[in-house]
Amino acid sequence: MGCRSKVELNVCQVTFLISLCSIAVILAVFGWFRGIDIGDYKASSTSSKSNNKVAAVVHAPLRAMPHADDIGSPPLLNNAHSYVQWTFLQMNDVYELKPLGGGNKGGMARVATIRKLLLQENPNTITVVSGDVVSPSALGNSIVNGSMLNGRQMIGTLNVLGLNYAALGNHEFDLKETSLRRRLNESKFEWIGSNIYELNTTKPFHNIIPYKILTIANVKIVLIGLTIDDNLGPSSAPAYVHITSQ
Ligand SMILES: *[C@@H]1O[C@H](CO)[C@@H](O)[C@H](O)[C@H]1NC(C)=O
Ligand SMILES: *[C@@H]1O[C@H](CO)[C@@H](O)[C@H](O)[C@H]1NC(C)=O
Ligand SMILES: *[C@@H]1O[C@H](CO)[C@@H](O)[C@H](O)[C@H]1NC(C)=O
Repeated sequence: MGCRSKVELNVCQVTFLISLCSIAVILAVFGWFRGIDIGDYKASSTSSKSNNKVAAVVHAPLRAMPHADDIGSPPLLNNAHSYVQWTFLQMNDVYELKPLGGGNKGGMARVATIRKLLLQENPNTITVVSGDVVSPSALGNSIVNGSMLNGRQMIGTLNVLGLNYAALGNHEFDLKETSLRRRLNESKFEWIGSNIYELNTTKPFHNIIPYKILTIANVKIVLIGLTIDDNLGPSSAPAYVHITSQ
């Protein structure tokens, strides 16, 4: 799970999200706030079209965010009215539900609470998983009603949590094809896969979206999901997916 300390979460505000699933790295800046100055934004967007809006955000100077100490308190920005603000709450490699350390670390209930607080702080809070949720999981190996959970516990929990978007991690493909497709069908959030196709086709795997454009106060933010191509299905069966190499 990424971005879980109090301070990081408080300022987990990024402009551009790329998930590189297998090593669970978000290639965006964490722990820092990037603001866009409306003045700069207007200047760049008058001369050309929407692509520049994204560029304007990406190139906006990094500013350390003076922040209140608690999640749920509005960030204390100088001239807050001149910034468009958003928050990404991101996690990856989560397979279990319960916290660790005697209830003091991690756990999906804590994520749910943090999400609620962040939403109070800023309704433009987007919760994302950048891969590896349905496998490998000890709990996922439990047999319930005669069949293995295979990540059902995570999809059910993330649905209730209110997850917005997820990228497929390489470990998702540890599951047999039917199980993974069932998990995708059960999801109430959107999966994003920018480099994953049905085997031998150019059709996106399971009709998942290749990217998502969010618009927050006229600022466009593109989300893409990249997965490394080292796992195309369980080794016991032929590959069922095509992942283009980065
Ligand atoms: C197991 O089966 C029972 C009886 O059909 C059903 O009520 C219950 O929801 C099932 N449990 C799960 C986790 O699917
Ligand atoms: C997933 O949903 C689609 C559309 O409803 C359906 O055609 C397909 O059979 C489902 N796949 C599985 C594995 O349940
Ligand atoms: C996919 O392409 C490979 C190599 O061209 C071929 O061996 C395989 O049979 C194809 N699989 C399907 C399901 O079409």
